[in-house]
Amino acid sequence: MASSPETLPGGHIIGLGETRRKDNWWASPIMTVVYIGAALAYGTWAAFQGDHYQAGPYLTPLYSPTTLADPAAIGGAGGGYGHVWFGNFPSWWPSFIPASPALLILPLPGFLRLTCYYYRKAYYRSFMGTPPGCSVEGVLKGQYGGETKLFLWQNFHRYALYLALIYNVILFYDAGISFFYKGSFGVGVGSIILLVNASLLASYSFGCHSFRHLFGGRLDCFTCDSPSKAQHSTWKFATWFNERHMQVAWISLGFVMFTDIYIRSVSHGIIPDLNTWGANMSAAARPAAAALGL
Ligand code: FES
Repeated sequence: MASSPETLPGGHIIGLGETRRKDNWWASPIMTVVYIGAALAYGTWAAFQGDHYQAGPYLTPLYSPTTLADPAAIGGAGGGYGHVWFGNFPSWWPSFIPASPALLILPLPGFLRLTCYYYRKAYYRSFMGTPPGCSVEGVLKGQYGGETKLFLWQNFHRYALYLALIYNVILFYDAGISFFYKGSFGVGVGSIILLVNASLLASYSFGCHSFRHLFGGRLDCFTCDSPSKAQHSTWKFATWFNERHMQVAWISLGFVMFTDIYIRSVSHGIIPDLNTWGANMSAAARPAAAALGL
């Protein structure tokens, strides 16, 4: 007669990855590692490029807002030099660090995602295996101190959200000006992509637990605590997005990378941008920024 496996109180089988589950519980952690790992790898590569982040009126979201820039990387005519807030990178900028505006801005959205309640679940399970799934024995057995010790900084999440809401406004501004090329209103595939991207990232922020908390999540009882009607409506609005937060987290992450790939490809002249201006947005088709005295 086969001996029964060693178990913990409650019936969990002891041993890394051991479980009584019969379903493909491992599929979700593997997909998460592949998807988030690919997005991280691409985003890091793109952030270190420092050029081809703009095509015509389009600015990739990985480089927005462009606080400092290298004029040689801007691309020139009709482009978004006006996107740059404070001018050129200073002369003392260390030569071993690429003069890439993305390196200055990405820490904020990166911190928001790192501390997001959904992403915590994703990387605790998928990257750290603590545990890899419900009722599955994980790497750490009972020693997990989580957000009271090593991960105490996760509690800054709400402040990252407050800053990210400003970032959402900036992305809508970028989407808005992408409908104007050399002073003329028009529509390009890039404009539509930027608008969808800004909307997805706003949807991600609206579904944040901290956003929902702001408008009523902190109340124990809506009828007893008598919030305003507007507060209740905003809470219900946030709740709709909150219930879809995981899905929006995945879609918006992928779409940011897609937007960067699109604008980068147009800037390189690899693909044309279909637009009502009839303009070629490729950097190769424009005079160099230096020739324009930028
Ligand atoms: S952004 Fe996901 S919980 Fe706040």
